[in-house]
Amino acid sequence: MKPNRRPLIAGNWKMNLNSSTAEKLAIEVAAQADKFDLDILLCPPSIYLERVGKAINTSTIHLGAQDCHGNPNGAHTGDISPPMLRDVGCEYTIVGHSERRADHVETNQIVAAKAESAWAAGITSIICVGETDDERSSGAALNSVSAQIHSSVPDGADAKNTVIAYEPIWAIGSGKTPTTTEVAQMHGAIRGFLKQLVGEKSAQGIRIIYGGSLKANNARPLMALADVDGGLIGGASLTALEFIAIAESCL
Ligand code: PGA
Repeated sequence: MKPNRRPLIAGNWKMNLNSSTAEKLAIEVAAQADKFDLDILLCPPSIYLERVGKAINTSTIHLGAQDCHGNPNGAHTGDISPPMLRDVGCEYTIVGHSERRADHVETNQIVAAKAESAWAAGITSIICVGETDDERSSGAALNSVSAQIHSSVPDGADAKNTVIAYEPIWAIGSGKTPTTTEVAQMHGAIRGFLKQLVGEKSAQGIRIIYGGSLKANNARPLMALADVDGGLIGGASLTALEFIAIAESCL
């Protein structure tokens, strides 16, 4: 598909499922995953990470968290640090999802600290950016995403430690998606912002994935775009068949 960039299909289960339905879904996805030449990642609620990790242990699927703290340990009641995530087998963590930015007032600076803290534990950060509905309709989408990239992506980002997820906030869970032209423009622009930040070589290697109402029936044309290197999937990742069908659309 894309030179030197292995597609990544990530399921963000958000605050859904219980321990047995999470395990069942993981087993169903794992049964299919080995036939795909791409990275498949499951991000269950943190309380189920260990159980899901065991369920996918013998498959090629990767385990990821939905968030992490910006410190490795300390007096942060209720939080989970990157070394703890690494300890239970996480190779990735999402940081700066728009729901975290909104619900927990996470600024770009907090998101950057989380991304760096994940790196220090050997975890790849999936840094999320995206514009609001108002920003899209007023023509401010590019500026908004540029500001988020410049302030949320720490120095030293490269193909191994960082993935960018472009998720227009208005597309998340809404059933609406941008046009292929809009996605192509934004992903191309993000690649350009990354070049300014980390240089041509690193920027060319960093995967930029799309998220927001991605489904089996709309994924193929989006996944075929030159700077789209996979997807971050919420609702449609809760059904193994649908999630696997989206993975298939990358091939
Ligand atoms: P959605 O969520 O696929 O349900 O729109 C995507 C996300 O928020 O990561």
